[in-house]
Amino acid sequence: MINRRIPALLGTAALLSMSVAACAANTSEADSEGGSGGDTLEIVSWWTSGSEAAALQVLFDAVQEQDPGLDVVNAAVSGGGGSNAKQALNARLQAGDPPDSWQLHPDGELTSYVAGGNVADVSDLWEENGWAGQMPADLAALQQVDDAYYTVPVGVHRGNVLWTNPSVLDDAGVSIDAEDSLDDLVSALEEVDASGTTAVCLGDKDIFAAGQLLESIIISSIGPENWNGLFTGEYPFDSPDVRTAVETYGHLLELANSDHSALTWDEAALKMADGDCAVTLMGDWAYGELVNAGNEPSDDFAWVPFPSTQPTFVYVGDGFSLPADNISNEGAAELWLTTVMDPQVQTDFAVEKGSIPALSTADVSVLSDYQQSAAEDFQSLPIVSSLAHGQVTTAELSQEYADAVTAFNGNTNVDAFISTMAAAQQSQLD
Ligand code: BGC
Repeated sequence: MINRRIPALLGTAALLSMSVAACAANTSEADSEGGSGGDTLEIVSWWTSGSEAAALQVLFDAVQEQDPGLDVVNAAVSGGGGSNAKQALNARLQAGDPPDSWQLHPDGELTSYVAGGNVADVSDLWEENGWAGQMPADLAALQQVDDAYYTVPVGVHRGNVLWTNPSVLDDAGVSIDAEDSLDDLVSALEEVDASGTTAVCLGDKDIFAAGQLLESIIISSIGPENWNGLFTGEYPFDSPDVRTAVETYGHLLELANSDHSALTWDEAALKMADGDCAVTLMGDWAYGELVNAGNEPSDDFAWVPFPSTQPTFVYVGDGFSLPADNISNEGAAELWLTTVMDPQVQTDFAVEKGSIPALSTADVSVLSDYQQSAAEDFQSLPIVSSLAHGQVTTAELSQEYADAVTAFNGNTNVDAFISTMAAAQQSQLD
């Protein structure tokens, strides 16, 4: 039950001026054995944390193995969740100066790029390579807009995972189970707080992290069907259960580290593993990051799907697309797409990233216990798209949500949050 998207309303995204935080080059010398003879391939992403950069390097190495003469330019822009990267990219798209390929989320975010006329139709590549037959039909459908493919999925992340510190939970005498109710979870976290340790680590310097915590609570409260209904208009944002979820989120903010707005998602995850708190809610890129920093799974940290009586897999997808116009090196860009769609490359990438491959032809037996459990859940649970990552709906509604979460973190005004989101929901449907 993957979410059906509502029609995108985005024509041209509002652009904000910003500075590009990272623009490192990873180049190789021109190939003496042929290959592209010194062509460049410029890739925009927001993969700059330790594990993200390592995973991106796997892809760069793989494409350079295919074409040793290719100079790969890493135009990554730092900022978890990608809001900085997306702003920088939009400015380049507006200026007619796109990179050869860029990272994006499927579903609503992809729809917004297609509506803006920004991305190339790559249906021919899908056809030639038979990719649709190598993944679940619902997953393939989310890479399409109006029956054409505009992106390729390199990996599947789960957004609603609670990463836990086993020692801190033991010391407080509590445990957290996937089947717990939200009230059970809150009680356990209150006991951690009473034991003298911060209950929740949050790093929402990039606001997506707070948005993701709140969306996990909302999904846990209303279930996957109603979550989808929020974006089709079948379920109102001002329903009592959403209000209760926002109140619960406000309470978890009280139980969180007071410096949360100064920390990034990865800093918060590492704080949790260091025992500074009991839990942190984050997508399973946190798994990659915790391992990359030397933490031992099940020992230094553990995990549980965000507790819910209606288990759900919140899908955050990573893909790459090509520009519709002004592409500098189409051959290299297409080689990039076919490389990231190689089953072995997807497995190698997942090892570093904490994700699971999108291709069912990729080997998951070499992945960690956590990743294998995520792969099983992806096959068996209802799947919905994330709002915090701009995937379930239009760019506008996603931005309104991010802004409303930012405002709520400052004023903790539940009424204001609910009325803002109810109005934003309505304006999408008008
Ligand atoms: C991306 C992940 C990334 C995370 C944090 C998400 O939007 O899908 O690949 O690791 O943001 O930067």
